[in-house]
Amino acid sequence: MSREQNKDSQAGVQPLGDRVNNRSQRPESQAFKEFMASAWGPSASPEVSRAEVAGYAARRRLAISRKFPGERLVVPAGPLKVRSNDTDYRFRPHSGFAHLTGLGLDHEPDAVLVLEPVDPGTGDHGGNHHATLYFRPPSGRESPEFYANARYGEFWIGPRPTLAVLQQHLDLPTATLEELETAVTKDAGVVAIGGLRIRLLREVDLNVDALVDTSRINTGVDLEESDNLDAELAEALSELRLRKDEWEVGELKKAVAATVNGFHEVVKVLPRAMAHERGERVVEGAFFSRAREEGNDLGYDTIAAAGNNATVLHWIRNNGRVRSGDLLLLDAGVEADSLYTADVTRTIPVNGSFTPVQRRIYQAVLDAADAGFAAARPGAKFRDVHSAAVKVLAERLDEWGLLPVPLEVALSPDGQHHRRWMPHGTSHHLGLDVHDCAQARRELYLDGLLEEGMVFTIEPGLYFKAEDLAVPEEYRGIGVRIEDDILMTADGPVNLSAALPRTPDDVESWMAGIYAGS
Ligand code: GLY
Ligand code: MN
Repeated sequence: MSREQNKDSQAGVQPLGDRVNNRSQRPESQAFKEFMASAWGPSASPEVSRAEVAGYAARRRLAISRKFPGERLVVPAGPLKVRSNDTDYRFRPHSGFAHLTGLGLDHEPDAVLVLEPVDPGTGDHGGNHHATLYFRPPSGRESPEFYANARYGEFWIGPRPTLAVLQQHLDLPTATLEELETAVTKDAGVVAIGGLRIRLLREVDLNVDALVDTSRINTGVDLEESDNLDAELAEALSELRLRKDEWEVGELKKAVAATVNGFHEVVKVLPRAMAHERGERVVEGAFFSRAREEGNDLGYDTIAAAGNNATVLHWIRNNGRVRSGDLLLLDAGVEADSLYTADVTRTIPVNGSFTPVQRRIYQAVLDAADAGFAAARPGAKFRDVHSAAVKVLAERLDEWGLLPVPLEVALSPDGQHHRRWMPHGTSHHLGLDVHDCAQARRELYLDGLLEEGMVFTIEPGLYFKAEDLAVPEEYRGIGVRIEDDILMTADGPVNLSAALPRTPDDVESWMAGIYAGS
């Protein structure tokens, strides 16, 4: 109790910390507790089967085990995050944890995966570690947690898996969080004097950070050096995701399919959006309904940007009007239950027909996307896709007389004037995170080579702001981006989002078809 609270309680004032109980009161009587613990039939326990992802997750753990022999690896899922007071956000585990366990949906707050080093080659699947998943199993209906704990109790949030259920489902040994402290800290210390090195995926769960830091301080381990070791683990986990396995590709295809349905839904609601003061919200809501119906959630906040708002790269306020005659830029992705997400953008004429200037800009962006696609080959550099796309945009801007310098000057590193109208990158890796593999080294990302199994976006755009005095008036207030999700195969790139029309004619016929049917 703080000094203030102490003073308050002496004065008969309810302490601040107790005020959360003012909304309702739970009976405290022994009779109530006993009655609540009695007369329940068995839980409708889910039929437990080995998850399809289990074998894939085991191979991912083996890859990371081989990189760090003799070291304890600690990968937390992260805690629930408070939205306000006693209300939390829906839980989403850290992507590095989801990748190594195969867990999706809202599994499991506070869980920690520990890879315990064993004699090289004697670990799981011939690796260097034994993996255990530590998590909080339900306490059972005899415990007040059942009805009194709004974060973890079955009465509040529904049934949660037991140790046995999750162990069988993931084909991965499980243990309770009570055993975590010992599992993380035992025998840890300075390697030179026989201690065991811990590597931690940091800044995911501050409690686990504190546990590891305390152990390091108590055993004389250098904290600064440990920071680097931890960063190397984050980097390795990120780089492990650069190439997707076939299960991941399947999940990404599901996410894209649901996203395509979401875009159809949006075209259907456009008449209502046009009539609404905040038409962009109508668009956002229509896409979100598909995301929740067919997937787990959105992979990122939807960008529903009409007219000049489309020139704001990450416009997510989405409270503008959707006017006939304007373009609508929709950048949206459904996240599947496995947490893999799509990331697709289409820019469509609100009334179903492009004006000549809109079509001209749209076609330039489409040609840039196609040039990026043509440059994307196994063995090509990741950055080649961007260079190819941006070169096309520069050429068009030159043809239209918008560049203040000759094309060669603009294309030189000292120029780059064309980037005024496309200041973002053309591609990023896509997977569990919309901007996946973000901790990968530059030589494996931007300067890396495209390889079979990589999934990334191609998303050029042109953005002419309403107040851009460097372009003629007819261009102002128009933003166009076209974004597709690309899987690299041995035979070249496959456009996973090709089911959504891309050419201006195809976009117009697609919209006309939906309007005719609705
Ligand atoms: N979908 C938004 C982005 O890629 O930044
Ligand atoms: Mn993107």
